[in-house]
Amino acid sequence: MEEEFKMNRSLWDEWTDINARSKMYGMEAFKQGENKLDALIRSEVGDVAGKTLLHMQCHFGMDTLSWARLGARVTGVDFSPRAIELATSLSRELEIPARFLCSNIYDLPELLDEQFDIVFASYGVINWLPDFPRWMEIAARFVKPGGCFYLAEGHPIMWIFDEEAESWTLKYPYFQKEFMVCEEQGSYADRTAELQTTSCYQWQHTLGEIVTEVCRNDLRLEFLHEFGRGFFPIMPTMREEDDGFWHLPDGDDRLPLVFSIKAWKK
Ligand SMILES: C[S@@+](CC[C@H](N)C(=O)[O-])C[C@H]1O[C@@H](n2cnc3c(N)ncnc32)[C@H](O)[C@@H]1O
Repeated sequence: MEEEFKMNRSLWDEWTDINARSKMYGMEAFKQGENKLDALIRSEVGDVAGKTLLHMQCHFGMDTLSWARLGARVTGVDFSPRAIELATSLSRELEIPARFLCSNIYDLPELLDEQFDIVFASYGVINWLPDFPRWMEIAARFVKPGGCFYLAEGHPIMWIFDEEAESWTLKYPYFQKEFMVCEEQGSYADRTAELQTTSCYQWQHTLGEIVTEVCRNDLRLEFLHEFGRGFFPIMPTMREEDDGFWHLPDGDDRLPLVFSIKAWKK
């Protein structure tokens, strides 16, 4: 798997700088105090004041630091050295206390030996995981007894459609087991940006697999919610609305595009 991780890491190093200057990520507004966590996540995770929070695959840390602004004691982990460098410098510049660790998420148990009130991940993390069961074991291991695991993510249905098509057109199988080699043009936040690394590896995980693995790790499911709006445009006709999500025209919400899960450790 080393080859696949190496290519993905190079792409994320490049995407970090592209994303950091993109309109989509809005770093200037964040520096001025804007909280980057959407209302859905904030309400479902609940009050974090004084709690310890582990953010898995934190990118360059704006969401992690947003949790810290709400009072959480945060640790963010990502395997992109560039992302962790930028996250650390944002924490220093804005004087928001945070700890950022550069590690492949699969190696984290070798680096970190503590447990957290909240283990959190969101939007665009599980498609980078070759082994979801192992990832879930690791996430669960870091939850304190009485603490929770929370994931808000693109619904696995979202990945099976043709992104170029004007309406729902099937392209990939829902039950895709092999990795997919994806060709990239720019980043999802700026398709015009120049890239050296132009392909990456991604994996599909079904909702059945996800829920089964949460429960297999002794976490008690509080909810699994599904929403008919996306966290980024998967079709050219989608538009961003005031809720921060991407919607299809004419209120078309026939298919789930985002899901969220919250589960508790006894
Ligand atoms: C889309 S970002 C998710 C964060 C957040 N939703 C955001 O947009 O800021 C996905 C992150 O996963 C990280 N990542 C991918 N594979 C990883 C791995 N095996 N170990 C640790 N981090 C990984 C990437 O470097 C990237 O920062």
